[in-house]
Amino acid sequence: MNNCAARLRLEKGDITFEKTDAVVNAANCRLAGGGGVDGAIHRAAGPALAAECAAIIKRIGRLETGKAVITAAGGMKSRFVIHTPGPVWKGGGAGEETLLRSCYRESLALALSSGLKTLAFPSISTGVYGYPTELAAPAALDEVLRFLNKNAGIELVRFVLYDEDTFMTYEKALKANVNTIA
Ligand code: APR
Repeated sequence: MNNCAARLRLEKGDITFEKTDAVVNAANCRLAGGGGVDGAIHRAAGPALAAECAAIIKRIGRLETGKAVITAAGGMKSRFVIHTPGPVWKGGGAGEETLLRSCYRESLALALSSGLKTLAFPSISTGVYGYPTELAAPAALDEVLRFLNKNAGIELVRFVLYDEDTFMTYEKALKANVNTIA
């Protein structure tokens, strides 16, 4: 036990303004950029980010859902971007929760193996990909808390949530979870 709940914070805001070791991007499997947080991160980082993403895709073909890769953060205040494609919501019976948990776990493991200590996550999959926030939030928080509990190397994880509803849903889920794991 290493006081994992104290190393997780919820904030409302725009993740592109964060100053942290790595900002996590809710990407797609082609790392092609898009709308939502992906579009915002690409705009804030500048064209070097798209070029680095294209080079990764040239090398690996496609980034599977639930996996993660790391790039520089271009013009953003953060040092790196960790890109992870979340699952598209198909009703809940297509392994969506397993894949969503994998996004958080793989992003954290990549940060740890890259020597990073602080991360900011958006709410992966709950926008364009349609994952209901009230189901995504408890899975996301539980997976991050479990990781922090086992790995003291990550000092701080912040969820930077864009809108009030999402923030409140995460806040409610965190209160419920902390009682069971911390
Ligand atoms: N900062 C923080 N959160 C943001 C920001 C931002 N600047 N912009 C949007 N969000 C929030 C959304 O409000 C939502 O709560 O991020 C959450 C995830 O929504 P999406 O960005 O739509 O991500 P996702 O549902 O995972 O869909 C990914 O959308 O943009 C495309 O290329 C992306 O194909 C991929 C898909």
